[in-house]
Amino acid sequence: MSGLSDLEDLLGPDAFGYFAGGAGAELTLRDNLAAWERYAFHPKVLVDVGVRDLSTTLLGRERAHPVVVAPMAYQRHAHETGELGMAAAAAATDSLMVLSSQTTTSLPEVAAASGESDRWFQLYVFKERSVSLDLVAQAREHGYEALVLTVDFPVAGWRERGSGFRVTHPLALNPSGAPLTTEQLFGMHDPTLTWDDLGAFAEAADLPLLVKGVLRPDDAVRAVDAGVAGIVVSNHGGRQLDTTLAGVDALVPVVDAVGDAVDLLVDGGVTRGWDVAKALALGADAVLVGRHVLWGLARGGPAGAEAVLRQLVEEFDTTLALLGCPNARDLDRSYVSRFPERKNVPPHG
Ligand SMILES: Cc1cc2nc3c(=O)[nH]c(=O)nc-3n(C[C@H](O)[C@H](O)[C@H](O)COP(=O)(O)O)c2cc1C
Repeated sequence: MSGLSDLEDLLGPDAFGYFAGGAGAELTLRDNLAAWERYAFHPKVLVDVGVRDLSTTLLGRERAHPVVVAPMAYQRHAHETGELGMAAAAAATDSLMVLSSQTTTSLPEVAAASGESDRWFQLYVFKERSVSLDLVAQAREHGYEALVLTVDFPVAGWRERGSGFRVTHPLALNPSGAPLTTEQLFGMHDPTLTWDDLGAFAEAADLPLLVKGVLRPDDAVRAVDAGVAGIVVSNHGGRQLDTTLAGVDALVPVVDAVGDAVDLLVDGGVTRGWDVAKALALGADAVLVGRHVLWGLARGGPAGAEAVLRQLVEEFDTTLALLGCPNARDLDRSYVSRFPERKNVPPHG
């Protein structure tokens, strides 16, 4: 990845390796970025775009725009303000934030920093299930509106960067904050989780449940049959299984399989407002933004994250105008197609 050397200096090589790295040879990490370039726009002309509507609906609630902050662990290691800084940036830009189970700030503190803004909670199921169930109870108590169960992390991906990183802030899994390696933390995930467990967590939470990390249409259908409210099509930012499909490439078959049955979100490599427009044109209701906004936080604290989110939304607005599609809800597949084969881009497999 280029253009990140300042972050390596800022965070140090171990934390930087943990945040920036991906699995294996990092082919998927790179392809997540390249994938958006494989879709070309087909703009309409002579459409009145004087007033634009960027809004979308998630879980039945209207949202100002479709940019959502992805759940990301250990944010105090990216910037001292951590999840509080991220929550402030999300609130300032009307962005929904998904708080990670591996948060370095407590759920009530993040809830307080979010004010009136919506927030969702991402759940990892740990071997010590009581820790996960306690997080679910806290999410419910402190006004998190949905539970995003991450299903692509039975074990950690084979990661070759960041092995020296130590988490030194208190976590739900490690309330004392005694330094832990990511290997120790990843070892606490429960690899025995199955479809049979979904219902129990939905019931405990009494909140809408989304699953995050689905790439196959048959799994998407299974999730819908299991009663989920939404699906996040994701390869976990290229951090789990290298050479999986990019989220945007996996999205189309998922949309074809489940249609409008549930809310669909997609992530991986979103860095520009036109990526957001492509995701919606291909059938998503919203996108999650991961490292791009994390780098904003690392570089400039809450104001840095806010600037990243604001620019994404403004770029999305400009894109709608230039596409001749003033209402984001009218984006459809007529606005995009696959680029003809391009040099230096591996063929879609
Ligand atoms: C440093 C880092 C930590 C992450 N932690 C979590 C996590 O705790 N839970 C989770 O479901 N996903 C986690 N993810 C994955 C993100 O939610 C998201 O799927 C991914 O970052 C999207 O790709 P992008 O970074 O290219 O935008 C993490 C990603 C990064 C980069």
